[in-house]
This record gives sequence, C-alpha cells and structure tokens, in this order.
Amino acid sequence: MDSESIKAAAAILAGGGLVAFPTETVYGLGANAANEQAVRRIFEIKERPADHPLIVHLADKSQLRDWVQEIPPAAEILGTAFWPGPLTLVLPRAKHVLDIVTGGQASIGVRVPSHPVAQALLRAFGGGIAAPSANKFGRVSPTLAAHVKAEFGANLALILDGGQSEVGIESTILDLSSEQPVLLRPGMIGIERVSAVLGRDVQLPGIRATRASGMLASHYAPRTPTYLCCPADLDEWAGREIGHVAVIARRASPVSNLSALRWLEASDEPTAYAHDLYANLRFLDALACDSILIEDVPRTSEWSAVRDRLVRATSIEKARA
Ligand code: TXA
Ligand code: MG
Repeated sequence: MDSESIKAAAAILAGGGLVAFPTETVYGLGANAANEQAVRRIFEIKERPADHPLIVHLADKSQLRDWVQEIPPAAEILGTAFWPGPLTLVLPRAKHVLDIVTGGQASIGVRVPSHPVAQALLRAFGGGIAAPSANKFGRVSPTLAAHVKAEFGANLALILDGGQSEVGIESTILDLSSEQPVLLRPGMIGIERVSAVLGRDVQLPGIRATRASGMLASHYAPRTPTYLCCPADLDEWAGREIGHVAVIARRASPVSNLSALRWLEASDEPTAYAHDLYANLRFLDALACDSILIEDVPRTSEWSAVRDRLVRATSIEKARA
C-alpha cells in the first residue's frame, strides 16, 4: 500500500468521510470515532440499527486511556498478550465518548488491529476509528476489497485494498466491563487461551443479554437459503435437493459431472476454514443456486468460532421430512 493512499484515507477521515480498510479479521467501514455526523453515516449506509455499538480501533494500547474510564488489570494483561490482534475488549467508556458509538451504553468496545494497512491508517489519522464490518447489516462480512465494493459501490469514496483478510472471521469480543469476564463473540483467539493468560475463567454468553449484533440469531447470512447439515446426511441431502445446490464440505464430492451440484471442498483445519469461509459463502451466494448446504463442523473448541458463524448463517429453518 503506497503512503499516498494512506494519506488520502486519513484526510477523508479527518474531513468527516468514510473509508473502508482491511483488517486481519474482516474489512472495516471506518469513520472518525469523535465525529458524530461521520459515525451516523456508517449506520445509514450499513442500514444498521442505532442501538448496535461500534468497535473503536486504535493504533496502540497506549491510546486506550483516551477512550475508557479506567484500565482494569485484565485489559492491561490481555492487551499486552494479544494486541495488535483479533481481540476486542469491552470496557467502561470515558465520559466524552459519543453515544452513537456505544449505542448509548456505559461501555465501549476497543481493538488494536494488526493488519499493516490498518496500522498505517490509524497512525496517519492519529485518532480512534469507529468501524463495523464493511457489509450491509446482517450480511456476510467482507474479507476482500472486492466484497466491499460489491456491497457499497459508489457510496464509498475510498476502499483501501490490503488483500485477503488473514483470519477471515470477526474478532473475539470479551466484556471486561463488570466483575466477571464474559465472552460476547467467539473468534479465532479461543477462550482457553484468554483464560490461560488471565488465570481465570471466562463466562460464556447466554446468561446476560448483550447488544452484540453478531449475537442475533440470523447474521452473516447469504441471500440463498442456507442449511447446516450433519456430515452423515450430507450426501443424501445434496441428492434430494431440488434445483441447483451448492455444498461446502470438508471432503471432496462423492459424485462428479452433476451440473445441478456445485461442491466446494473446504479445509478440514479450522484456521484455514475460517480464512476462506466468507469468501466461499459470497462465491456460492453469487451463483444464485436454490440452496446452499454446509456440512457441520466438529463441536470442539478449536472449531467453536467457525461453528458460531455457520449456525448464524444458516438460521433459516426449513422443515425436512
Ligand atoms: O473483527 C472485527 O471485530 C471487525 C473488524 C472490522 O475490526 N469488526 C466488527 O464490527 O466485526 P461489527 O460492528 O460488525 O461487530 C462489532 C460487534 C457488534 O456485535 C457490537 O454489538 C459489539 O461488537 N460491540 C461493540 N461495542 C460493544 C459494547 N460496548 N458492548 C457490547 N458489544 C459491543
Ligand atoms: Mg458485522
């Protein structure tokens, strides 16, 4: 990425405009987190409900004190261990933080991304960048600049192209705003690692209501009706579907030369699977098949973040005989 593009992007942010930029998780749609009009525009073009708070991205952990009321020891420890990287911490917010950023809540989500282009942009801009994933509300997050362009096209003055996002699914979100750390959204930094670093247990969500939009049942969803399918039933389901069917499975197709069947072999390793997941979903969605079947993945901790996204992408129910 040339420094002119970074400068231009920082100038757009400073002038109250929006810039899409790559992060190691997914692409973000960024605005100056201290400019209410600019942040409002994010909600407009994403068509996102106003009570869904945004993550504020920072260049460095040292900027945390500008955004939070206090830095709890757990945040210090986790920031040191995992930043820059795919972990978002929810902390008590500083007084000046805009309500539109936090959804009116007393807490703020902050993250220091590691992608070199995100880092360069944050450093050139100097302040915090409020950025949700650069997709329309409820849709599949973008992991390529082309995805962002397809989603927003002419509505965006500048999309910084930093190649394919390495992690491929959104950051792990951990709520440290109350006594007990709570996982709000699983990500590729697993809670075992977080617990080990913290030296204490992390509570799973469900007990408390949260406003994490990724927590809505139907999220990250393709337009094509999409179903999660038990591995043992996959071949039978694929054969029984009427019309054009697309499949994502962790093995090759058992049949060949079926024009009505588009079978995509995904990795059987969770890191590589996550890396490709959204690009695969977007690719298959664009084929306009009648349905997408996704082979379920193991219910083990290393797959838990991937499985969370699969369950949400396939939450449309369909009665099956
Ligand atoms: O990996 C990521 O986190 C990406 C990249 C661009 O950084 N961002 C992302 O943003 O996924 P978004 O807006 O699509 O999801 C952020 C999630 C939402 O579910 C939001 O509700 C939650 O973070 N969140 C933000 N601030 C929060 C807060 N104060 N309390 C609870 N949840 C919060
Ligand atoms: Mg999102």
